[in-house]
Amino acid sequence: MNAALLPFDAATLVMIADQYGTPCYVYDAETLARNYRAFDDALHGKPHQICYAVKANPSLAILQLFAGFGAGFDIVSMGELQRVLAAGGKASQIVFSGVGKREDEIVFALQQGIGCFNVESEPELYRINRLAADLGLRAPISLRVNPDVDAGTHPYISTGLKENKFGIPHEDALRLYRLAASLPSLETIGIDCHIGSQLTEITPFVDALDRILRLVDALADEGIVLRHLDLGGGLGIRYHEETPPPVVNYVAAIQQKLGQRSLTLLLEPGRALVGNAGILLTRVEYLKPGLEKNFAIVDAAMNDLMRPALYEAWHAIVPVHPRDAVPVVWQVVGPVCETGDFLGHDRQLALAEGDLLAIKSAGAYGMSMSSNYNSRPRAAEVMLRDGEVVPIRQREQIHALWRDERLLPD
Ligand code: LLP
Repeated sequence: MNAALLPFDAATLVMIADQYGTPCYVYDAETLARNYRAFDDALHGKPHQICYAVKANPSLAILQLFAGFGAGFDIVSMGELQRVLAAGGKASQIVFSGVGKREDEIVFALQQGIGCFNVESEPELYRINRLAADLGLRAPISLRVNPDVDAGTHPYISTGLKENKFGIPHEDALRLYRLAASLPSLETIGIDCHIGSQLTEITPFVDALDRILRLVDALADEGIVLRHLDLGGGLGIRYHEETPPPVVNYVAAIQQKLGQRSLTLLLEPGRALVGNAGILLTRVEYLKPGLEKNFAIVDAAMNDLMRPALYEAWHAIVPVHPRDAVPVVWQVVGPVCETGDFLGHDRQLALAEGDLLAIKSAGAYGMSMSSNYNSRPRAAEVMLRDGEVVPIRQREQIHALWRDERLLPD
């Protein structure tokens, strides 16, 4: 047994590569379920809703699983909303985040009976109020407040600082809650914040919550009583040597701060639910040893898994069948014509051409950020469930890449 592959096993991965080809994303249903249960169990007995952040991985089958567990969803576009509905999710359990909601998106969400809009600016309040009035509805809203705390994460995925584009400045929040209360087609039901992603400490969450709770209490004093508090997503996972807090500790710290307040707690985890439930399976095409560096060229690339190129993110790379040979330091790279196209730098591996590799912790922001760069069709996806391999997305067909394009007329 190759423990480094867990929860996957070598024989199944070889079978998947043979049948579905590589690169291929492979997800484990049991891990998805266990990750969801960790949150749900930790919150047992307390009013809560876990709203899976769809952007982390929007595959229909994954949404369907979470909907089946009773999850709600955090979405940021009409496309994500339609996906959730197509997968069997309920609109009433969806929160709609994002700084740039278009009119058609707001109207569609209202018509579907969206659970809550997480409003990120003053003009958005007016826009939602006007569109809800046109439809003769009241729109459920919460304000996404920017608590101005440092999440201590990569600058591209930190969202809770003043300098970020997200949310309403903390000092404007009271004024905007009063405004929302005065707009007849809005129903103010909550408060929301999201400070960043891949956080490995509890402190920034607690600091943000502290600031949000001060607002909640100040609002209550003015007679604006909120039903829910949404603390966003952001709990990190272990890619390399990170030691993120266990879900129970994270939830306990939040509960302790919430105290006796009768607020439903919403969380929007993405990565913590799907990240370690998926791998990207790839095959070594060529080995190209060099004077300076050794390159292992694999058939997955930055278009399949963008995180290393974009954030210098580290993903473990594990041979499906470890070789009994002296390891060499490899640059594991893809076929895309960019120096930034790498999956891992300086990896000690014993490799031969044709070897299968598992790129680990690729369940979150892997497939969802993939592209067709270099006219590469997107990877296939399969899910392991009850000992069976279930295809959940076929490899993109080449002709589909230009299906929506037109040649110029003569
Ligand atoms: N809620 C909101 C409003 C968000 O913006 C996000 C993520 C989440 C929830 C989920 O955060 P999570 O629990 O997954 O950390 N592409 C980057 C991550 C970008 C996260 C954007 N927002 C990456 O690959 O690391």
